[in-house]
Amino acid sequence: MREEQAQLHQRIEEKFKAIDQNPDVHLEGLIWAKPITYWDYIHTDALLNLQLQRSTLPDEMVFIMYHQINELLFKMILWEIDQLSQCETITAPFFTEKLRRISRYFDMLSSSFDIMGDGMEKEQYMKFRNTLTPASGFQSAQYRLIEFSSTELINLIDHRFRASIDRNTPYEHAYEHLYWQAAGKDHATGKKNTLIQLFEKRYKADFLIKMEAYNTTNLWTRFKQLPDAVKKDEALIKAMRHYDYTVNVTWVMAHYDAAGKYLGNAEATGGSDWRKYMHPKYQRRIFFPELWSEEELKNWGTF
Ligand code: HEM
Repeated sequence: MREEQAQLHQRIEEKFKAIDQNPDVHLEGLIWAKPITYWDYIHTDALLNLQLQRSTLPDEMVFIMYHQINELLFKMILWEIDQLSQCETITAPFFTEKLRRISRYFDMLSSSFDIMGDGMEKEQYMKFRNTLTPASGFQSAQYRLIEFSSTELINLIDHRFRASIDRNTPYEHAYEHLYWQAAGKDHATGKKNTLIQLFEKRYKADFLIKMEAYNTTNLWTRFKQLPDAVKKDEALIKAMRHYDYTVNVTWVMAHYDAAGKYLGNAEATGGSDWRKYMHPKYQRRIFFPELWSEEELKNWGTF
């Protein structure tokens, strides 16, 4: 046996003996292992069978697939955020590098939004959307997790209620005052609409658990825990600001403009007062408020 082979054998022995397994059985199993292929590894058959239309209109396929692409990228974003939030000792280069990765994904979502805005015939959209009521992208749970994992809860609370909420407020109470509750309520009666009732039935319990988990591990809290010298790192601050702006202004405006092209003044499938609700100058969702000047905060969503 060659020297390298002997070493390899030795390492395999050590690995399996450490978990009380017979290495020979595992080596023998290799003889029967199927060769790996691209399609088995990537699960292309499963992936390409997930696009099921509700209508007969071909452009509905664009709508479904682009949403699925968004969900995959949301998953990539959460994957990177979780590595940052779980990391024991964070350095400025590590934080910066992770934020750049996360922002690249969000930049891609913003710059590709024309696929929605220009990639479907309005006549088709206005027909197939009726088969989707009362569903809305509003019900994307991963989007909400990106928010919880990016900033402190106070920055996600509706401005009208911020003064009544602090770190000792129960999660359930904070949850009821999140900014996005506004899109889930009938303006006149204050009653929750079907859009949010269904969303909460499916996800509220999970959200409360995640809100608590990210309370001490969200990106903004992790940043604030860094030593002062690291917090002043210019590349890191630039990456933080870029991420905040991309998620909360660039993407929001790309989404808002695409929605405007189709809906005009029509009501949304989810039923919100969407022009008011979605525009960043009213919504004012800002993940890292202390990294912006007073002037920038004042003009949020318009610069
Ligand atoms: C023609 C395409 C689209 C239109 C017309 C549209 C329209 C809307 C409207 C009107 C809302 C407000 C809530 C409601 O009443 O439904 C909303 C929310 C939302 N949509 Fe879309 N949307 C489109 C595409 C997308 C895509 C591709 C995504 C990607 C996942 C998405 C994700 C979201 C999210 C996350 C929200 C909640 C935003 C928030 O709470 O600030 N939308 N959308």
